[in-house]
Amino acid sequence: MTIGAQTGKHTQSGATATQRIVETFRKNRLIPVIVIDDVKQAVPLARALEEGGLPCAEITFRTPRALEALEKISAECPGVLVGAGTVLTPRQAADARSAGAKFVVAPGFGAAMVDYCIEHDLPVFPGIATPTELEFALSRGLSVVKFFPAESLGGIAYLKAMSAPYGNVGFLPSGGIGLSNLAAYLSSPRVVACGGSWMAPAEWISAGQFDRIRDEVRKSVEAALAIKGER
Ligand code: 3PG
Repeated sequence: MTIGAQTGKHTQSGATATQRIVETFRKNRLIPVIVIDDVKQAVPLARALEEGGLPCAEITFRTPRALEALEKISAECPGVLVGAGTVLTPRQAADARSAGAKFVVAPGFGAAMVDYCIEHDLPVFPGIATPTELEFALSRGLSVVKFFPAESLGGIAYLKAMSAPYGNVGFLPSGGIGLSNLAAYLSSPRVVACGGSWMAPAEWISAGQFDRIRDEVRKSVEAALAIKGER
């Protein structure tokens, strides 16, 4: 089994929805984590990500208008792979799905939410921080999980030690990652992609600084592609 071969229905191409999302993450190497307050900023933000070379966004459900922002990006920016983050309940997962989310990310392992996503064939990447939590994910047939909060937990050294007993698991680390420590993560074959808010911080979004976001994304994409590793 290759990393990312999670359970799920196979499409005509033979890959599950999750496998296709994981392949996109692996190719992009980065996942912009977005906190957005104003729906009007959603489409300009998505375009800035696209122009920067990273047509992907995890819209976190941490603000009242996040769902509408996700819906708008899904409807108006077909080239952007949009998902929902900070999804804690089955209801939120259902809302994300109806709004057009192609994947769901969570900070922790919410069993009811994860089971909802698996039942509805919605790619889900719950957060784990310990071997026990990783085993919850493995018991559901998941093989790619979020690793959160990466830096506070001990960074790549902890991730390597914690995951050593388990083969074929891929990680999406996030929490405290930026240009200065990206290489440590992306050079590990265990890391599928790194998530983070540094490319599009909430203050830049609310201030409408989309050129700045585009430039930071471009710089980050170039940095990520230049990182060599055993991948
Ligand atoms: C997440 O939800 O993945 C994190 O909040 C992102 O962490 P960061 O803001 O430190 O990048």
